[in-house]
Amino acid sequence: MKKIYVFAGVAVLAMGLTYCSSSKKASKTAAVPKTTYSNVSTVIAGNCAPCHIPSKGGNKKPYDNYANVKADIDKVIHRIELNPTDKGFMPFKKTEKLPPDVIAVFKKFKEDGALEN
Ligand code: HEC
Repeated sequence: MKKIYVFAGVAVLAMGLTYCSSSKKASKTAAVPKTTYSNVSTVIAGNCAPCHIPSKGGNKKPYDNYANVKADIDKVIHRIELNPTDKGFMPFKKTEKLPPDVIAVFKKFKEDGALEN
């Protein structure tokens, strides 16, 4: 009985070592999925409507399409990182910044190359 525990312990340890040494680097680049327009469009629909979504009645620069979001991504990131009291802050008239994890979606989209899919 004791032998089985020792064996199990060694096996777990070995798995742990293998994982650490061989897949640390690979998992960073390969396992993390890219953030694309489809991710960003969800966040925009949730936070930038109705103003930037023409189908919702918005009459500001449309961000319901990939081309505009890609072209303006630097502007977008700049504005959502301003403080609510700064001129140009987005989302317009909100008194709080977007949550960090939402801002991170825009940033990662840019970092990943502003891909459509
Ligand atoms: C309540 C309406 C409203 C919401 C919500 C809103 N905006 Fe805006 N947005 C505006 C208005 C009004 C302007 C034009 C005035 C200005 O440039 O500050 C504008 C302008 C912009 C511009 C500049 C566009 C240009 O032509 O240079 C960007 C970029 C922008 N918004 C991004 C965003 C993002 C990203 C969100 C969501 C996180 C958002 N906005 C949410 C009203 C809104």
